Amino acid sequence: MRFFFCVLLVSSCVFWPLETASIGQRVKRQGVIGDPCEAFNVKLGFHSAKLSTIPKGVCGYCCPIKENDVRFYFVDRTHVNGTLVTLQSKGRALGIDPRLPTIIYVHGFLELGISGIAIRTVREGIFNSNIDMNFLVVDWSNLSMGPWYVEAAQNVRYVSEKVATFIWTHLKRKSFRLDTLHVIGFSLGAQVVGLAGKILKSNGLMLPRITALDPAFPLFHIKQPENRVARGDAEFVDVVHTNPGRFGIGEPIGDADFYPNDDRFYQPGCNFDDVINGNRLDDLASCSHERAWGYYSESIANPQAFPATTCRGFRADAKPCHFQVDAYMGYHLTKNVTGQYFLSTNPQKPYGMPADLQMKMKS
Ligand SMILES: *[C@@H]1O[C@H](CO)[C@@H](O)[C@H](O)[C@H]1NC(C)=O
Ligand SMILES: *[C@@H]1O[C@H](CO)[C@@H](O)[C@H](O)[C@H]1NC(C)=O
Ligand SMILES: *[C@@H]1O[C@H](CO)[C@@H](O)[C@H](O)[C@H]1NC(C)=O
Repeated sequence: MRFFFCVLLVSSCVFWPLETASIGQRVKRQGVIGDPCEAFNVKLGFHSAKLSTIPKGVCGYCCPIKENDVRFYFVDRTHVNGTLVTLQSKGRALGIDPRLPTIIYVHGFLELGISGIAIRTVREGIFNSNIDMNFLVVDWSNLSMGPWYVEAAQNVRYVSEKVATFIWTHLKRKSFRLDTLHVIGFSLGAQVVGLAGKILKSNGLMLPRITALDPAFPLFHIKQPENRVARGDAEFVDVVHTNPGRFGIGEPIGDADFYPNDDRFYQPGCNFDDVINGNRLDDLASCSHERAWGYYSESIANPQAFPATTCRGFRADAKPCHFQVDAYMGYHLTKNVTGQYFLSTNPQKPYGMPADLQMKMKS
């Protein structure tokens, strides 16, 4: 795993942190570039990534965390780029409707935060659904900058404390309601929401639902559920595994665990040829991982887009069981669904594949 990581984030291996700190100081002294703690965005084809010369965090060589490095935004049709919500904000004055269900979404490593592709995609999924809800976004992009994965993973706990405080404070202020609150996180963001759930639970407040979208695997140990997202962090935890055992945790760790295209190494549309032909070189590493929010966004407007079965081997010739629809993966999942579920998807949008087509599919 360490090797895999080094290949991906070559710079993490080349610039050891201590050397980087001295490089950063030298650069700063000579005035070659500005503040080495400042972020810069790098466009990589389809995506952009947020990077910095020196990581932000609590390590010896890190730039210090600033009070407002974790921000909360309310996103609606009139403020697609979000309105800042602080602990003091009056929810109603910003347009948050306390009667509606609420989604709080937390992004992952390298992302641009509120303006990143993942949050824009989830936002469009919500808008397309015409479901009335409050959509709140946690922007911790200043603490998840690349290539500093180790430091970003260490910041997860700090961010989860901020998220827990935000939820606690705004529930007390009745900005939104608890019974329909749904906290969703992707990758390192899934670890943030899990730890936030644990903090709230230890204060006597149980979140009704957490969704972990391909929760980050590197540096999170399956045998230490206290340090990662886990069943019990909310009344109901659903997990979507799109890159199991690589960027995402492979083991079932929720109440309901969904394995799209379980029998493949990559998600459809994410293998080498697809990515090269689509001129999406940057997607090679993370395409399958990011399908987690791609699928989930689609499920908001299409409750039955992702029929799934408990029969793991449904695509094998000698199948011990058949595909029957046991649950629909995604936003509309009901809390009485537990266990492991398997399904196939299309390589492009719409990703959801009808049950009759899945039944006919062979490996
Ligand atoms: C990130 O930090 C920089 C520098 O402190 C600041 O200008 C910027 O607004 C911050 N962005 C976010 C999203 O917190
Ligand atoms: C939202 O931000 C994008 C760029 O990130 C910009 O193109 C767009 O005009 C903004 N929309 C509004 C309504 O401000
Ligand atoms: C789960 O609950 C829903 C209603 O909330 C119901 O329609 C469905 O049949 C239930 N499924 C199972 C497996 O009990």
